[in-house]
Amino acid sequence: MASATAYAPGRVELLGNHTDYNRGVVLAAAIDRGLTVTGSSRDDDVISLRASGPKARLTVAIRELRPQTEQRWANYPLGVVQQFLRAGYEIRGFEAEVSGDVPAGAGLSSSAAFEVATAGLLMKLHQLRIEPLEVAKLCQRAENEFVGVKSGLLDQATSVFGRADHLVFLDFNTDAIRTIAFPPNFALVIADSGKKHNLLQSKYNTRREECVAAARALGVDSLREVTPEQLDAARASLDPILYRRAAHIVGENSRVAHAVEALRIGDAAAIGVLMNASHESSRTNFENSTPELDTLVEVARSVSGVLGSRLTGGGFGGGTVTLVHAAEAESVAEQIQRAYTERSGHSSAPFVCRIADGAAVGWHVNETQDGAHAAGAKLDRI
Ligand code: GLA
Repeated sequence: MASATAYAPGRVELLGNHTDYNRGVVLAAAIDRGLTVTGSSRDDDVISLRASGPKARLTVAIRELRPQTEQRWANYPLGVVQQFLRAGYEIRGFEAEVSGDVPAGAGLSSSAAFEVATAGLLMKLHQLRIEPLEVAKLCQRAENEFVGVKSGLLDQATSVFGRADHLVFLDFNTDAIRTIAFPPNFALVIADSGKKHNLLQSKYNTRREECVAAARALGVDSLREVTPEQLDAARASLDPILYRRAAHIVGENSRVAHAVEALRIGDAAAIGVLMNASHESSRTNFENSTPELDTLVEVARSVSGVLGSRLTGGGFGGGTVTLVHAAEAESVAEQIQRAYTERSGHSSAPFVCRIADGAAVGWHVNETQDGAHAAGAKLDRI
């Protein structure tokens, strides 16, 4: 039986922290690490999933889809199946196996990569054509409703729309998405704090509720509508916590706007400054940093060749992204690794990430004639 394969990358958020579910703007990129889901159709309604590691097999009937409490990893693909069914697509049973190299809990959206790759596999096996933005939204709903994290659309949309050597600019007020060339001669170093984040158990959903409450207190539908001046004027009448949450979102939206302008004129130094300010705002206003993430950015900023450093993604653990001169990127990664372990006692394996293309699907080919693995050679963008 023909089997299909789908690949979806992880993502790094460069600027625009927690702005997505506030109808704000983000600059992000798909990275050169991702997940591949390979599988084939069955004649019944059974889904059989395999991952690596213990407890990494699950078989469930499509009519009995429900969130798994023991094998939570399976909730990403199962949630996507449920959303396809809800959207009216007829889904038959299938077998699928996931593999890849996006570390879980590192702030690089392994969960979105798993969802998007599953969506790609389902589309290929059932010969469905779905608009890329709709694919991202189906996957987001899987995360919101089946996994239980009230995340925005950033991770899934970046995994779908990523483009090699480009940043993805996303405006969640209009759903406009475009790519902007990443400045040549610069690179991104990603470093894991060694403290995993788990958005389900973290204060992610609480932050989202606080943002909604802040918008309500300010008399607007979303924090996107608030300018820095309006927020300043309302400060005295706003609960101090809600003020700080709103200040983070309003500040992030403005930093993204400045970064887009800096990209236009090739001013990478300005982007570094904005990244540093973003982390400071996470630390003090949004309180989604951790001592480990703070140490990582401090260590990075003390290394020569670094323009700026901040936490990336949801926060509460996970990792950081650091903008560096490309020529010094490998040496920066090594120096961050050494200094972070010395200072924190935790280990980190920073790596220089290549900005890569987004998700793709194709028919799976096991082996070429000379025995080389050919999967991936025949993939087309979603
Ligand atoms: C996580 C969520 C995203 C986004 C970021 C923070 O990655 O999944 O939707 O909110 O955090 O910007």
